[in-house]
Amino acid sequence: MSIAEKFASMEYGPAPEDPKEAATWLDRHNRRFALFIDGGWREPQNKEYFDTVDPSTGEKLATVAQGGPADIDAAVKAARDAAPKWRALTCHMRARYLYALARLVQKHSRLLAVLETMDNGKPIRESRDIDIPLVARHFYYHAGWAQLLDQEFPDYEPCGVVGQVIPWNFPLLMLAWKIAPALATGNTVVLKPAEFTPLTALAFAELCQEGGLPSGVVNIITGDGSTGEALVKHPDVDKIAFTGSTEVGRAIRGATAATHKRLSLELGGKSPFIIFEDADLDSAVEGLVDGIWFNQGQVCCAGSRLLMQESIADTLLSKIRDRMSTLRMGPPLDKAIDVGAIVAQVQLDRIQSMVAQGIAEGAHCWQPQTALPPRGLYYPPTLLSNVHPTSIVAQQEIFGPVLAAMTFRTPIEAIELANNTVYGLASCVWSESINVALHVAAQIKAGVVWVNCTNMFDAACGFGGYRESGYGREGGREGLLEYLEPKWFKHAPKLSPSAAPAPLEPSQAETSTPAIDRTVKLYVGGRQARPDSGYSMEVRSADGQLLGEAPLGNRKDIRNAVEAARKAAGWAKATVHNRAQVLYYCAENLGLRRTEIIQRLATAVGTKQAALEVDLGIQRIFSYAAWADKFDGAVHNPPFRNIAIAMNEAIGTVGVICPAEAPLLGFLSLVLPLLALGNTVVAVPSEKYPLITGDLYQLFDTSDMPAGAINIVTGYVSQLLKTLAEHDDVDAIWCYGDDALVASTKAMSVGNLKQAWTNEGRIIDWFDPNIAEGRWFLEHASQVKNIWVPYGE
Ligand code: NAI
Repeated sequence: MSIAEKFASMEYGPAPEDPKEAATWLDRHNRRFALFIDGGWREPQNKEYFDTVDPSTGEKLATVAQGGPADIDAAVKAARDAAPKWRALTCHMRARYLYALARLVQKHSRLLAVLETMDNGKPIRESRDIDIPLVARHFYYHAGWAQLLDQEFPDYEPCGVVGQVIPWNFPLLMLAWKIAPALATGNTVVLKPAEFTPLTALAFAELCQEGGLPSGVVNIITGDGSTGEALVKHPDVDKIAFTGSTEVGRAIRGATAATHKRLSLELGGKSPFIIFEDADLDSAVEGLVDGIWFNQGQVCCAGSRLLMQESIADTLLSKIRDRMSTLRMGPPLDKAIDVGAIVAQVQLDRIQSMVAQGIAEGAHCWQPQTALPPRGLYYPPTLLSNVHPTSIVAQQEIFGPVLAAMTFRTPIEAIELANNTVYGLASCVWSESINVALHVAAQIKAGVVWVNCTNMFDAACGFGGYRESGYGREGGREGLLEYLEPKWFKHAPKLSPSAAPAPLEPSQAETSTPAIDRTVKLYVGGRQARPDSGYSMEVRSADGQLLGEAPLGNRKDIRNAVEAARKAAGWAKATVHNRAQVLYYCAENLGLRRTEIIQRLATAVGTKQAALEVDLGIQRIFSYAAWADKFDGAVHNPPFRNIAIAMNEAIGTVGVICPAEAPLLGFLSLVLPLLALGNTVVAVPSEKYPLITGDLYQLFDTSDMPAGAINIVTGYVSQLLKTLAEHDDVDAIWCYGDDALVASTKAMSVGNLKQAWTNEGRIIDWFDPNIAEGRWFLEHASQVKNIWVPYGE
């Protein structure tokens, strides 16, 4: 027998990682864990516990406390009490604590990896080589941000007390993604790990003790969904950060709608894995192994939808089947295992049932002839081909080792199929042509695009979704902003309910000005349009004078406006220079009409405010024209042979409920950052003076603004908001008003999980450019997409 033949016929021997240290650690705790509150261990007040088991054996590992509302309350109090001191530390001191945590993770890395594998079922190769090193990297990276915080974010403050709820697929890594940026920015934390995988979070609590972290800065409350719910609903939590299913994300959006909690959501995905005919197919197949069989496919950004160019489909499927046959499934503590156990019976049932549904819908199922281990929860690597794009297995997250394969013919078709999903977390593009790959990458609606690579993560590169995959980013500079608020915003006073602040000068001063009878129209798709209702609303000054009539828009008008805005998506593709030019032109035209607009606006807000609104309005337009070609992204240098290009992309179509108090300047302050970055807008102008619409469309009409980029529908906000907030083709909603209006906006927009950005009922001084313009607005008008491109041979 030749060496090659021997090599091919050799069997793998067992190569188990020794679980002794982890067992000793568990025994040291008598395999029973209380809650980590205020730096110490506390029994749960209801005395309830639950078991956590090793899914690869079914053996119980430990008993863990089931935290209830009273425990959450105690943890939040501890975090609140710890907050002022933690915040008052110097940046350098906080950096030292984070650095200590990074060192401790490294020091205990093997224990943490083994514990993770035992609790979750993932191969030790992954927890040892990927999860835990990334955890350490995350703390190191954020130790750096803690050090630089005052220099880089001088005008920001921490949110305060942060509630964090994480899933079971990357238990310690998700903890790191949540806790490191929160601490670096001066927040204190209550974190709830997933019920299937609490152990490494409890080990981390011990590291916090070992590192001397001040009591109460980190609190860990174990428990199930009801514990998470109690945390989300606790009134003294300032921000919620959640990773998990889209369904629970939606419930959390609903549960926080009537509050002022900041929210970031990292939810599910159905990420496309696109392979072009010119790709290096063997590398692409290796990528796929990582893309869908890494962590048994229980990965939010798993490349679960394979889109193959038709010409290579048969060759590729055959290569995939060959490679699948070599994947080794078995005890996850074995160092030579590729596919470990599924986390829990409920998840295994879910995978089985979805695959059965896919087959019933016509998919062909192929699985390698590998024997399943005799005990434990296992599901074999699975290839579903002949999948219809509308099938459940092409549309819904399976969260298991199941690949659904489809074909495409042209790049355009690939992009269409890739975007044919409610999700938008990640994607892969494989092509040897950098032109094709980057062309496609730019058009995929997803927060991450991996070109000729997959599942690359680094603390410096933000991660997060588009659409129903959630919003907010974790990692990078943008990830920090999720835990910070501008000082002025945090301390801004509240608007009194439904009463806009008085104009700078009472409008009675204008009683001598005759009312100007004007019939203004709506502005939809670049045209002046009559309202569907055929009615108009009277617009009166504060002292009751009739100023004119504005059309009474209804839901049909909003729908038409949204359709027009969708059609104008080309605005996002206009060059930044072109967008800047159009905005400068708007400023020029506002300047030309200055006197007449001041005169009209004065009837509602007084001459002084009207003049200020117009003059500052011209400046504001200049500012955003200036920003249009300067709000650049970044190029990250992660510690591998990759660059990650972080692009600031438009969100899409954004609905804007403008503030009542400054009819022109408020409108411009919100609409312009959106337009500058390529969004299309449907705006409802100030109810107080909707007649401004007539001046605005004249401005846009004469400034080469493309039809549909900005649409204006006047009417009663109470009647228009619902249609705009609920509309599935609206990607984000901005609402500036009192508490009640803001709460309705958040509640009504839960459906497609669109981003909702509001003033949280606070007064914004539109007349102060240090507050009312700049990066804070631009950051909300865009979302970051990271495109990873490898280099080298
Ligand atoms: P899940 O979304 O229910 O659980 C995630 C976390 O949220 C856990 O800590 C859980 O205890 C907590 N939670 C549950 N209900 C809550 C509530 N009402 N309020 C606050 N916290 C709550 O995910 P689950 O049930 O573990 O998995 C179900 C499916 O979700 C999976 O099959 C998978 O498709 C998807 N999933 C997606 C993840 C992702 O990262 N995208 C992660 C985990 C699950």
